[in-house]
Amino acid sequence: MAKDHVQIFDTTLRDGEQVPGCKLNTAQKLIIAERLDILGVDIIEAGFPVSSPGDFKSVEAIAKLVKNATVCGLTRSVENDIKVAAEALKYAVRPRIHTGIGTSDSHIKFKFNSNRDAIIERAVAAVKFAKTFVEDVEFYAEDAGRTDNEYLARVCEAVIKAGATVLNIPDTTGYCLPHEYGAKIKYLKENVKGIEKAVLSCHCHNDLGLATANSIEGAINGARQIECTINGIGERAGNTSLEEVVMIMKQHPDLNLDTGINTKLLYSTSQMVQEHMGMFVQANKAVVGSNAFAHSSGIHQDGVIKNRETYEIMDPADVGVTESAIVLTARSGRAALAYRAKKVGYELTKLELDEIYPKFLDYADTKKEIVDEDIHILMETSSIKMS
Ligand code: KIV
Ligand code: ZN
Repeated sequence: MAKDHVQIFDTTLRDGEQVPGCKLNTAQKLIIAERLDILGVDIIEAGFPVSSPGDFKSVEAIAKLVKNATVCGLTRSVENDIKVAAEALKYAVRPRIHTGIGTSDSHIKFKFNSNRDAIIERAVAAVKFAKTFVEDVEFYAEDAGRTDNEYLARVCEAVIKAGATVLNIPDTTGYCLPHEYGAKIKYLKENVKGIEKAVLSCHCHNDLGLATANSIEGAINGARQIECTINGIGERAGNTSLEEVVMIMKQHPDLNLDTGINTKLLYSTSQMVQEHMGMFVQANKAVVGSNAFAHSSGIHQDGVIKNRETYEIMDPADVGVTESAIVLTARSGRAALAYRAKKVGYELTKLELDEIYPKFLDYADTKKEIVDEDIHILMETSSIKMS
């Protein structure tokens, strides 16, 4: 059975770049946009054109450069935002305007001092205005995660009627539990008239560490677009991590969902974004962290040396990592020492291994990690020659 395609909407250059310290110049944004296009994302959210002249310039330059992906610009439900975004996107092969407004009672009351009906009117007007510039209009219901489902369905129905092609259901505050977020998507699929004319999109934040789980639950329940960023960067605790959702769909064929991402470019893309943004991922970050394919305890190392799949559910080559790492520490066993010694040129006999292993443990107790240079020193002190 053919798998359902889930569109990958990358917002590294918008939700990711708005993080303090992650600011990029136009040249850097172009390098990243070009890589995202090669990576195979379906949509690149290039920025928020009205926010600054620099952002306008970057969105315009990205719109001129990108040949495959749709290029999208963010706006509020404000005519001038939409006009400026349309201007910035005018050279795009596939332009999309992403407009929207807060729909939770808290946003309606405190941000807009308004009421539910008036918010629907503003949403509809914004979508209709955006449609005068481009065919592809995505509508976001900000704080949809905390918006009452019945009202959210009314908003969705109204903006579809106005011409919205994609409905973004953001869990802006990262509050939802996966089953709640999945149920919200299911509710909209089942209760919004005209829903077959639009794609439902997940945009989840990671305040409780649930962004990836929520996005996957959304896709399981019928969403066909996931909004995410490289390395999961984004406001506060970040957005859904692109590499995580993509690899979950790849590693779980039973979900029957796929993406157009060339997963072999995930690791190098992650490195590129870290370097340009100066925002480095933790070693234990899923998929792209430096420890994601590193094994350090003796029991795990022995298993991985015998067969990689004993402790790895992904092939590192699939994400562009050359090989699994066997890290030597005081918790490593003989198998790991013999394996790493062989890699640097020493084929140890059983007798040699018996002699060197206690010395290795003593040495390892004094260090965090034994590197290749240390292996040479250990061998020299025991007069073991390279094979
Ligand atoms: O988190 C959010 O709600 C957003 C919208 C502007 C799409 O980033
Ligand atoms: Zn967001």
